[in-house]
Amino acid sequence: MAESRTRIDALPESPVVLGIESSCDEMAAAVLRDGREILASAVQGQERVHAPYGGVVPELASRDHVRVVSDVTEAALREAGLDLDAIDGVAVTAGPGLVGSLLVGLSFAKALAFSRRLPFVGVHHLVGHLVAAEVSQTPGRPPLEPPYVGLVVSGGHTALYRVGSEGRPELLGETRDDAAGEAFDKVAKLLGLGFPGGPAVSRCAEGGDPRAIDLPRPMSRSQGLDFSYSGLKTAVALEIERRGGAEGLDEGTRADLAASFEAAVSESLVARAVRAMRAESSRRLAVVGGVAANRRLRRDMAEAGAREGFEAIFPAMDLCTDNAVMIAAAGTRLLRRGVRDDFSLEAFSRVPIGEAPWRRSRDGGEVGSAAAPVRVDA
Ligand code: KG4
Ligand code: ZN
Repeated sequence: MAESRTRIDALPESPVVLGIESSCDEMAAAVLRDGREILASAVQGQERVHAPYGGVVPELASRDHVRVVSDVTEAALREAGLDLDAIDGVAVTAGPGLVGSLLVGLSFAKALAFSRRLPFVGVHHLVGHLVAAEVSQTPGRPPLEPPYVGLVVSGGHTALYRVGSEGRPELLGETRDDAAGEAFDKVAKLLGLGFPGGPAVSRCAEGGDPRAIDLPRPMSRSQGLDFSYSGLKTAVALEIERRGGAEGLDEGTRADLAASFEAAVSESLVARAVRAMRAESSRRLAVVGGVAANRRLRRDMAEAGAREGFEAIFPAMDLCTDNAVMIAAAGTRLLRRGVRDDFSLEAFSRVPIGEAPWRRSRDGGEVGSAAAPVRVDA
């Protein structure tokens, strides 16, 4: 097995890489040239599958992935105007995520790479999110390259990373309980706004006053770079209860609650990010993950950056939420460095960033162990 891993298949100078992502409730496939040029991006969500349950049901997610994985990949190839002969490598999310969901993309990608004898590599989902900021192009500015500070705000993670000049992310701080996206989803449920929660809360907040309801600013008195969102969610629950429950809320109060919650999340993310930027003396902050699609956060962070002297870089909206462009991009970076995985690659539900427990080092030791650390980076 070690042989296929250490073999460095030659890649063309501008490789065309197929990326596949299925870590949660989106099945996505994308085709990327040269690690940056998006030739196609197909994303199939599952809102209708999970909406009746108010949240993602893992078993239903994986079953739906099985149903659509071929179609989504074909759609991406069609959009790119390419057939499989044009693909030089395959990248797939190996973790973290729902294991059943991951396995669908993983098995499909393995079969494809095996049958076409293509170089194949597993990608860390959060590294993918960070690399999305490097793919997105702001007109008139050079593309983002390490070093920078990365803030990942998604449904499962809220964390700050130092992305070193070699591209390796190191954890600076993370949530002690709920992720910011998770808090959006839970508050959406509390307010009776349905699923998926983030965009619903955001839409509802547009008509509200962010100063109407006094909610706590999570961790505002604590030092360091950690986050916490479960207390804020509980505070919203108590405010709703005090008003007689979600059914009794008038539209105005619902909008005020949504706006006040959104402002509290945004403020706490901005405060932590500013603290990290000062501590790191960094001038570039990449804000990535589903919550980075939040307009208020985008505006607040840009303003803080202008005040503090750093640039806040957000991926394009459709590259904030889960997509396969980011996986193809992170995969291209790995493939270019000669990193390959063999077909024993497994799915992992939890993986610290910077580690790839699915990849063994050249001497057979576990990558990421103290004995055999190997970079798994952007
Ligand atoms: O990155 P992502 O697509 O999946 C994970 O890796 O978790 O993030 C999904 C999360 C969900 O919690 C969703 O409610 C949140 O991102 N989200 C938003 C917005 N769009 C998606 N939260 C706030 N405002 C939005 N516009
Ligand atoms: Zn994600």
